Amino acid sequence: MKKLALIGLSVSLLFFAAYPSLRNTQLGSCVVYAFGSFREVAQERSERFLGKVFEDTARCRGGEESVKWRTTAWVDWQRYWATGAEESRSTGLISKLGFWSPNRRGVAGALLDMEYQRIELLRFNLFDNSGTFEEYVRGRNGTAGSAIKIWPQLRLPRGHSAYVDVGGDGPQRCQGELIRFRNLTGICNDITNPLMSSTDQPFARNVPFDATFPDLGKNEIVINRHGDRLGLLQPDPQVISRKLFSRAQAPNNNCHDAHGLAGYVPEANCDYQKAPVLNVLAAFWIQFMTHDWFSHLEEGHNQSELMAMGCSTPDVNNGQTPLSAKEVQQLRCRPEDRVDKSYIAADKPPVTFTHEGNQHLTRAHKTTLNKVTAWWDASQVYGYNDLSGKRVKRDPNDPAKLLLEPVITRAQEVIGYLPLLQPSDYTNPQWSGQESVAFPDNWNIGLSFFHNVFAREHNIFVDAFRQQAAAFPEDDSGLRNPANPTAVIRYKDVTPDELFEVARLVVAAEIAKIHTIEWTPQLLYNEPVYLAMNANWSGLVSKHPLVENALEKALARLAKSSSGKAAAWYSVFATGPGIIGLGNNKADVNGGVNHFGSPFNFPEEFVTVYRLHSMVPDLIEFRELRSDPNVIRYKIPVVETLQGKATQAVHRYGLADWALSMGRQRLGKLTLQNHPLFLQSLSMPRLKSVTGKIDVPALDIIRDRERGVPRYNEFRRQYGLKQLTSFDDFIDPTLSKNSPERVRQRQIVGLLREVYGQHKCEDSKIITTAQVNSDGAKITDCLGRPNGSIVDNIEDVDAVVGWLAEFARPHGFAISETQFQVFILNASRRLFSDRFFTSSFRPEFYTHFGFKWVNENGPDGVIKETGESNGHQIEVSPLKRVLQRTIPELKSELEPVVNVFDPWARDRGDYYSLQWRPRPGAESDVAFKN
Ligand code: HEM
Repeated sequence: MKKLALIGLSVSLLFFAAYPSLRNTQLGSCVVYAFGSFREVAQERSERFLGKVFEDTARCRGGEESVKWRTTAWVDWQRYWATGAEESRSTGLISKLGFWSPNRRGVAGALLDMEYQRIELLRFNLFDNSGTFEEYVRGRNGTAGSAIKIWPQLRLPRGHSAYVDVGGDGPQRCQGELIRFRNLTGICNDITNPLMSSTDQPFARNVPFDATFPDLGKNEIVINRHGDRLGLLQPDPQVISRKLFSRAQAPNNNCHDAHGLAGYVPEANCDYQKAPVLNVLAAFWIQFMTHDWFSHLEEGHNQSELMAMGCSTPDVNNGQTPLSAKEVQQLRCRPEDRVDKSYIAADKPPVTFTHEGNQHLTRAHKTTLNKVTAWWDASQVYGYNDLSGKRVKRDPNDPAKLLLEPVITRAQEVIGYLPLLQPSDYTNPQWSGQESVAFPDNWNIGLSFFHNVFAREHNIFVDAFRQQAAAFPEDDSGLRNPANPTAVIRYKDVTPDELFEVARLVVAAEIAKIHTIEWTPQLLYNEPVYLAMNANWSGLVSKHPLVENALEKALARLAKSSSGKAAAWYSVFATGPGIIGLGNNKADVNGGVNHFGSPFNFPEEFVTVYRLHSMVPDLIEFRELRSDPNVIRYKIPVVETLQGKATQAVHRYGLADWALSMGRQRLGKLTLQNHPLFLQSLSMPRLKSVTGKIDVPALDIIRDRERGVPRYNEFRRQYGLKQLTSFDDFIDPTLSKNSPERVRQRQIVGLLREVYGQHKCEDSKIITTAQVNSDGAKITDCLGRPNGSIVDNIEDVDAVVGWLAEFARPHGFAISETQFQVFILNASRRLFSDRFFTSSFRPEFYTHFGFKWVNENGPDGVIKETGESNGHQIEVSPLKRVLQRTIPELKSELEPVVNVFDPWARDRGDYYSLQWRPRPGAESDVAFKN
């Protein structure tokens, strides 16, 4: 022991003697970093991490590039070693140092930064709107608010059909049939909080309630921040849409306002900026997902009252003048567009309470309801209320199956398609002619594609289960009935209704898995996110059962603790075994969930960052499998594949050709001036307005304002990211001075200034309590500039505009770091909170057969890809396996595909390459010509 201490002392002395010459070197910085203590998790909002590290830490994890990056507003980890493509990796002898190599330091450092963010997000960004917030702040009977697990607000109300079954007026606890499967309206997922995340529960918030609805000017800070510059239509949403969102078109490109050419000949072109490594399937996938998670609309409607949508700027305010007729004509906006107002659940002034000298609101100034279940339960497929449930047609010949009907497509497929809606199935005439699905709104070719695919998958699972049951009728299926939990249910005893529900559980879990380990790592294409997402699903230590076991035990203890700190550590420990199946080896089927003291529902801010309309192209490059897939046969306008026309298009050409076409085409980059033209003139006859049209990108802005989403800069501050101080901060600092991209970004900054304006600042006005300046001073209206300076109205920028303007992003990020921050918190929460992904992810609910199907991506065991991908040996991806089963015609086209959301003919290169190069066999594909 003495000897060790002596060695330690000598090493330290040696280091300090050599430090002057080692200072500012990687070795010196790494030693300081290694011997320095871990950064404390912030106790106060104003002490948050902000994604910025100490200089030595930055140097150790990424060298001088990384040190330089610290002066920007953007998170530091994006400049660490190995977090980009090949050139971000260190090579040579030093890269062989295992854990100590720069590459490992870089990636591990990035993961650590993300984990800090997650802990702090869990600590500072949970605001439930359903009445539990006061206890979250005060705690309950000695239990910290963040450790509370049961809330009276989440009891079923009197009059609910299951009220008596869960315990009525006494303590409520779901039991029996109510806890066996996912219920239609989402009740009883958490057995002790029956109402949580069920249909019609309020959207939560991720920002303090007094930071919501800035345009209401409810407190001094908000008034200081925005003056009287904000309004529902101010700055004008259609002006924003036309100046900042429109896709520029080359002259004579035959786009014809997104309608292309007659006969859909391929000579048409609608220009759009393309994301390098994501295909069109990925765009429609995320829309398919959002329809599962949230909706503000009921049966595709909002309130019956209509409102204006801008293109008029009626208030002569803040130096803005009304648009002249000429400007209206130039902008091509439409003053007579109207849209239905959002539903609002509560708008009376919220009750307040005082705790430790601070006054708090008990909810946001206004609230809205999530009209679907917030669970990841495939409710877009299976339903979320009575009417939507009726649209889900079961096969009368086998009620375990969904109804699929034969359709004569050009490809003469053997597997059927979803049936069409009948008039009694819906209340929205715009849906006529579409497939009968639970969530039919904004129907299009991509949604039709995925709904048909997963309906097929449901039935394929049922068939395979029946084969298993026929082969092993006496075997224990694993399924249990809570009414008689010890009684074995043999395969032959599983009823069609039970099998239907098991198939639903399996399909929902497959979808969650595809999203977590296939879609997301392709959306955020770099090594840290790949590791993080796989850790969320299967853990970092899945190959080390001893460690996994120990961590699970630690987690169980943390889950029971009444201390607030335990809740924060829980998420860190969970990366060990992974979130999926947490606690599924214990008797308590509800024991693995963790809501971190705040009942789960998505926050309004989450909806904002999923407004991804610029991902959609205007024309789909249509290819045919049976001839040469490298040839684009048609350019089919997306606007010709909406609603009932989507169904016709799918039936005419068949799923295989649509998969091929959407699989090979790149989707639209999430950036300014890249929204689809057709969405700016979307036909909405149901509104019966003069134009019969709406501008969807403008509506994105209006809806966020109606729902009180903070404007971009405060949004970032509240989420624990650094603020911007002028529009110029948006310009990507890595670009060389006169590069065309920098010139473009400068032009956009000019437009931001034109639209949002500037003002003379007053340094006495404090504009936020979320953060302070680095010297501890309050942040003021002047944002660090002298009093009376002219400053950009950066505070007024709408959240969507701001995150689209983030040109500097981590490598391979299709979304911005601001969106990612929202995602870090909510993507793991929707797993942590769901019993069916944690403690009830077990054969008693899924059956042995279903459990294995989810874990192994199908019935034939784990299948590995032959080569490596980005240095990892990987399994054949879950969606690839689903497509191989549901659309067998794709067999050879899918063979070289590693991730279904990567453009299918792209060569993935060696390490997170973003290059647009054809893979062998696709050299003649015209998409690679320019
Ligand atoms: C053909 C394609 C699409 C059409 C026609 C379409 C249409 C619309 C319309 C009309 C709305 C406004 C509803 C309202 O507030 O009244 C909307 C909202 C929305 N869209 Fe899209 N959209 C399309 C694609 C997408 C895609 C690819 C995404 C990607 C995630 C997306 C995400 C959203 C979100 C998050 C909302 C807000 C929903 C809510 O408020 O609950 N949409 N869309």
